[in-house]
Amino acid sequence: MSKPKYVLGIESTCDETAASILGAEGEVLSEVISSQVDLHNIYGGVVPEIASRRHMEVILPVIQEALKGAQISLKEIELVAVANGPGLVGPLYVGIQTAKAIAFGLNIPIIGVNHVEAHLFASYMSLEKPISFPALGVVVSGGHTVIVLIKEMGTYSLLGQTIDDACGEAFDKVAKILALPYPGGPEIERLAKEGDPEKFLFKPGRSKENPLHFSFSGLKTAVLYGFQRADKSDPHLKANIAASFQRAALLDIVNKAKLASLQTGCKDLLLGGGVTNSQELRRLFKEKAKELHCHFPSKTLSLDNGTMIAGLGAYLYQRRGGSDLFSLEAKTRIPFTKS
Ligand code: KG4
Ligand code: ZN
Repeated sequence: MSKPKYVLGIESTCDETAASILGAEGEVLSEVISSQVDLHNIYGGVVPEIASRRHMEVILPVIQEALKGAQISLKEIELVAVANGPGLVGPLYVGIQTAKAIAFGLNIPIIGVNHVEAHLFASYMSLEKPISFPALGVVVSGGHTVIVLIKEMGTYSLLGQTIDDACGEAFDKVAKILALPYPGGPEIERLAKEGDPEKFLFKPGRSKENPLHFSFSGLKTAVLYGFQRADKSDPHLKANIAASFQRAALLDIVNKAKLASLQTGCKDLLLGGGVTNSQELRRLFKEKAKELHCHFPSKTLSLDNGTMIAGLGAYLYQRRGGSDLFSLEAKTRIPFTKS
């Protein structure tokens, strides 16, 4: 199958409206991201109705800007890829209906992609040299925390996932406890630099059923009680809590990745999702998991973006062809197993 000359990728699962245009060889011709962080900041989290409305306002200007950046016209697009879940239903439909309208109007194929899988694809796209499969995949984002065995890109089996909160969600909730702005991850990382990670003994939860499952809800509650009971006059209190929580949460990711490597024999690890934005996570992997070859997404691809959607869409289209025009629906949850 010939490769589409230009691929448009659309992302609107949560609080970023993003569009990217890739060339036939996967080269990024333009990437536009409109973040709603300021809108949701005062609520300490994403408000779905407000998010949907903002997506509707900005989606066409974002696509127009992406076309301008790539110096092409809309009718030159040959494939549209859109994230159809998991995510918030209203925001998802804004992206999906826009993508469908473009595909229908131009009579070109449309491919729906899994946003969580796209986070893994972001680090695959960022690889400097090829890796061998099977490999491990870890996605740590605001909505998801999963470890998968990647047989090849597009074919996975689930090794572990969170049984309650996602890792990024725990960062956001702990930030709220400490009265820090949303999103909490970068704020906690900044504050933690001034704190002592050994001051509080916080432990992530365990699952009896599967040692590769995650649980962050108890950790968040331990932080809440730790903060409530602590001496508020201590000027280092918040920094110490941030550092201790961050160490516990991130080490849990590193330790489970190491265990998954022991269980499967895989040494190559693709990481993705907003929490991979953390320099501390990258440092801990280097320090504590020297046996693993860790591959992180490039800086712009760790947070939500249209490039990973376009990249995965083009990859899947090469493998299976077809068009999802009449079957594509918004899915708030999609299990991450494809084998
Ligand atoms: O992947 P993403 O942009 O959206 C989802 O698909 O959920 O991830 C956003 C999440 C937020 O929870 C945010 O707090 C977290 O990524 N995050 C971080 C850092 N930067 C962003 N968590 C920890 N440390 C960071 N530096
Ligand atoms: Zn995401």
